[in-house]
Amino acid sequence: MAEAMNPGMPKEWHRSRWCGQLRAEDAGQPVVLNGWVNRRRDHGGLIFLDLRDRTGIVQVVLNPEISRDAYEAGQALRPEYVVGVRGRVQRRPAGTENAELATGQVEVQATDLLIFNASKTPPFAVAENQAGPQVDETVRLRYRYLDLRRPSMYQILELRHRVVKAVRDYFDAHGFLEVETPMLTRSTPEGARDYLVPSRLHPGAFYALPQSPQLFKQLLMVGGIERYFQIARCFRDEDLRADRQPEFTQVDLEMSFVDAQDVQDVVEDMMVTVFHRVLGVEIPRPIPRLTWADAMARFGTDKPDLRFGLELVDVSGLVAQTQFQVFRQALEKGGQVKGIQAPGCARFTRKEIDALTQEIAVFGAKGLAWIAIQPDGQRHSPIARFFSEGELQALQGALQAGPGDLMLFVAGPPTVVAQSLGYLRNRLGHQLGLVEPGAYRFAWVVDFPMFTYDEEEKRLVAEHHPFTSPKDEDLPLLDSAPEKVRAKSYDLVLNGFELGSGSIRIHRREVQERIFRAMGFSPQEAGEKFGFLLEAFEYGTPPHGGMALGVDRIIMLMSGRDNVRDVIAFPKTQSATDLLMEAPSEVSPRQLQDLHIRVALAPQAAVAGK
Ligand code: AMO
Ligand code: AMP
Repeated sequence: MAEAMNPGMPKEWHRSRWCGQLRAEDAGQPVVLNGWVNRRRDHGGLIFLDLRDRTGIVQVVLNPEISRDAYEAGQALRPEYVVGVRGRVQRRPAGTENAELATGQVEVQATDLLIFNASKTPPFAVAENQAGPQVDETVRLRYRYLDLRRPSMYQILELRHRVVKAVRDYFDAHGFLEVETPMLTRSTPEGARDYLVPSRLHPGAFYALPQSPQLFKQLLMVGGIERYFQIARCFRDEDLRADRQPEFTQVDLEMSFVDAQDVQDVVEDMMVTVFHRVLGVEIPRPIPRLTWADAMARFGTDKPDLRFGLELVDVSGLVAQTQFQVFRQALEKGGQVKGIQAPGCARFTRKEIDALTQEIAVFGAKGLAWIAIQPDGQRHSPIARFFSEGELQALQGALQAGPGDLMLFVAGPPTVVAQSLGYLRNRLGHQLGLVEPGAYRFAWVVDFPMFTYDEEEKRLVAEHHPFTSPKDEDLPLLDSAPEKVRAKSYDLVLNGFELGSGSIRIHRREVQERIFRAMGFSPQEAGEKFGFLLEAFEYGTPPHGGMALGVDRIIMLMSGRDNVRDVIAFPKTQSATDLLMEAPSEVSPRQLQDLHIRVALAPQAAVAGK
């Protein structure tokens, strides 16, 4: 059948079956298929099409002896042409089955072919098995609609759909109400810059897109909703990384009349249920729980990857009297000396160790001390001579290092030591193949400090957010030693990523005011920014708490990807651009005028900035 001008979707061409679902038992069945040409091969008077729809691929045979029209129409076909095929399923001749294809036992003998639409030669092969060298991501994003045709992309979006569905079902079954909160709102302090939206009706005033629904969900608790959740879009203008997008999605929840354990129990049960339902994976319960202080001490990070060991060991006590100046001076300045044991790494070359030393310099490490224990038990090290035999034995004992192993030490301020060794631990865990394959190792990290000192702003800022409740027993420290105050906060960590954060909130005006004060807000500033919240607290606010989990990160980890762009249908690049729609973009002078906005840059410079 020739290509019609505008064939539309005639009734007799509606699909009767999906390509990817045809099996040997369908042999003899008449079928109508709709889809895209994945590949066309011409073979001794026959044309073979790999026809693709979202479920997969099936082979179609165009045989001039069965239908000359279909065969001739087939000669025009090229990759990504959109076609309809009518024909009959048949078993492939013995010896021509394709074990790699789910439909590899069968093929469809075509009687009719309709070309719905042609396609230009795509900028990259959509057919995944012939993709060849990795397609450049900017090209994939520029032509995202072609990228999405790849079955692997469809599978990720389907996974995402199933996870969100399972989450909704879970909350529905547990008495949570999904409530939508505004997108046009005012700034919430989650620590990033806001995306602002100018107001036409209020010249010079701006809405902010929500960094999270934090304040609204708390107000919902004041409003008596008791159990809220939302699949919430959030916007943060921050430096982007593999696990961060400027707009992303949270599973957001809040509960009234609960303590921290209650919230964690719900989240844990929800995650275990979702993993079971969607992946068939059983997450062992209870999920291990670490205090923030323990996580920092043992793993050098608040998001430890528990798929491997290589724990940090504090050897400060063992080297307090050492001749080695570097260690002694670090300790005298109130610092630490900690080490990790790299199993079987005594063979590392000088060059390899120098590379590691370089890599941790970004965290402020002044060096990397090492002692290799050769297979014959001899020590090889630039620093061993500074230590007594007793000290060396003690270090080996503490790190449980034996012949063939390498001991690595960093001395310095606790944060430098933690970051450096935390980094080396992850680096070596992967390099040495110690990461348990296919494992999902969750952890709760609890009791974060309430504040961290912000070097730039020269003041304390909330480690989670300023609405987090301090621990009752630490309240007396709020004025005397605020940096020692711990919060009723908790993170859920998976395989070294922070999946989610939450806390029990403050529900009393006085406590909230004290926290604002500790952060350096004057009562006036606090009133201007959060007067509405302080006021709400005066009208019977119940104790409440909640959490938010990053959907994009959950899907990234479930699908074994290493960046969240792969699990978002239309993501933005590292520089926050949408390459397909070309956003952000300039707008017309008329639009700017309506919004009472004058752009200070020359138009050229404004565009170059993206
Ligand atoms: P937080 O700021 O920790 O907490 O965010 C919760 C979770 O959201 C995900 N996330 C992101 N994912 C992708 N790109 C980003 N830019 C990004 N930023 C955050 C992470 C993170 O753990 N309102 C509080 C929650 C609460 O207290 O209930 C909040 O937003 O997985
Ligand atoms: P130096 O005395 O500076 O030549 O350093 C001797 C060895 O100690 C070198 O291997 C350095 O990498 C290491 N070193 C220097 N400073 C530190 C530090 N803060 N922590 C761990 N090792 C260090």
